[in-house]
Amino acid sequence: MPRQFFVGGNFKMNPGSREQKQALVKVLNEANIDGSTEVVIAPPSLYLIPLKEIVRKDIQVAAQNCYVKNSGAFTGEISPVQLVDAGIPYVILGHSERRTLFHETSELVAQKTRAAIDASLKIILCVGETLQEREAGETAIVVQKQLQAAVDLLKESDYSQIVVAYEPVWAIGTGKVATSAQAQEAHADIRSYLAKAVSPAVAESTRIIYGGSVTAANCKELSTQPDVDGFLVGGASLKPEFVDIINAKK
Ligand code: G3H
Repeated sequence: MPRQFFVGGNFKMNPGSREQKQALVKVLNEANIDGSTEVVIAPPSLYLIPLKEIVRKDIQVAAQNCYVKNSGAFTGEISPVQLVDAGIPYVILGHSERRTLFHETSELVAQKTRAAIDASLKIILCVGETLQEREAGETAIVVQKQLQAAVDLLKESDYSQIVVAYEPVWAIGTGKVATSAQAQEAHADIRSYLAKAVSPAVAESTRIIYGGSVTAANCKELSTQPDVDGFLVGGASLKPEFVDIINAKK
């Protein structure tokens, strides 16, 4: 079965006001969107519920993070079961900003992934190498190690809830998008790793999306690559061009 194209918009700690949020939603609600693409937007946690209430129903809402526990004395955290209770179907885990700025290890990301799956959340699981690691020829091994931590805690059936986002750190927010060949190579490596570490069936069915300076101008070419199953978009998801990225395959 062909993998459904997936486009996520990671708003990060944007937009800066409720008015900007409403303007963004207006653009999406009025847009002509490719119905065959799965679309998810991830606002700051404060806006999850209000955004879910005003955005069109064929666009799903994702949290940008969650904790490993379901409840308790964990100031500032949101739990997977709370997200499910609020009707939020997806969570982004392991984003490079969480790994670097908030010191999240692959082991913690794996525990969060396990907890999110147990709560019936779907996960956009982010992996990716730094420029230094790429230049040292370590891209595949770095990404595999990040994935391995999660693979160690997951069952084969869990992968139906996971989308893997390959996001080279050097491409995030820099305007330096990976070439189609670089993205394809990294995605193919991830797929072949999943085939070995989990199963050929999981490798074939798991969506692997690309993130890092995706724009309306570069998305079409990237989307032609056989192992690129969509995008996780940061900066451009805050602009009207996000609609063109959603429609990259149209
Ligand atoms: O989650 C999204 C990525 O960090 C990509 O961000 O499109 O602004 O480079 P960007």
